[in-house]
Amino acid sequence: MSLLTLSVCFSLFSSSLSPHPNTAKKSGCFKVNDCKCIMKDGSGVISLKAMGDVDGFLGRLKPVPADGMPADAEVLLSFSPCQHFSQPEDVTGSDCTNVAACLIVRYHGLNSHYINYGRHEGNEFHYNHTLKMLSVSYFAHDERPMTVVHYHCNPNQSMSVIRVQSLSMEEPLHIWVESPCACLNACAMGDLGLGTIFLIILSLSAAAYFVLGSCALRPFRSSSGVQISPEHSVWCTTCSLCTERRPARRHYADMTHSEQ
Ligand SMILES: *[C@@H]1O[C@H](CO)[C@@H](O)[C@H](O)[C@H]1NC(C)=O
Ligand SMILES: *[C@@H]1O[C@H](CO)[C@@H](O)[C@H](O)[C@H]1NC(C)=O
Repeated sequence: MSLLTLSVCFSLFSSSLSPHPNTAKKSGCFKVNDCKCIMKDGSGVISLKAMGDVDGFLGRLKPVPADGMPADAEVLLSFSPCQHFSQPEDVTGSDCTNVAACLIVRYHGLNSHYINYGRHEGNEFHYNHTLKMLSVSYFAHDERPMTVVHYHCNPNQSMSVIRVQSLSMEEPLHIWVESPCACLNACAMGDLGLGTIFLIILSLSAAAYFVLGSCALRPFRSSSGVQISPEHSVWCTTCSLCTERRPARRHYADMTHSEQ
């Protein structure tokens, strides 16, 4: 709810900023955080959070085809769309510390090199409405992206499927993901925070308070200004409903007598 409001505000803001409103500029999405983007036209949200497995991985030590590598070398990839990870887990200060993608090169099945292939921080989102595909670029050390992941919306897929392009030295590593979570608003509801739910409950009870209050309270003018007091009939009927269920009905009758 709050996200949709935010997106409407955002698109109003951006259209008022640009002197020539351009419909082509309306396509694409704004990055909300490293794991989420919101459509510029306000049509929805894509969250990468639910895309991985229970540990957040989309691929873990997945073999990558590599040209021009020695025959006894093995190239493996680990990738997590939203959750930072470190590999190897028991070693501190490896190049793959708190990364999104890590490339592991093994020689003779013994020596392993861990190469940072992109972090979540500073990633860039591009959405193509025609292809229904969100491309996210992950950077490691310089301006050139190391990994570009193409998340394609596929509602037929029950879980995310990953395909890794052959590794080359000139180009970033491209990964294609077929996932129902790449569709607009498909997996965004799951990560509503407790705070958001609390705020929704709070605003609903505030609304209920004012609606009930305006029915039950009657404003009237007095010498000291406008006063609001409970509508007589509302509280009296509530009270009598309560007291009539209890055997002590005489009590109520006595009280009304003494008031008069
Ligand atoms: C989306 O993809 C299509 C097909 O590749 C391409 O022609 C079009 O220019 C892309 N749109 C954007 C906004 O990148
Ligand atoms: C999903 O399945 C339907 C029916 O089998 C098919 O027509 C459609 O092209 C599929 N969509 C994708 C994105 O594969």
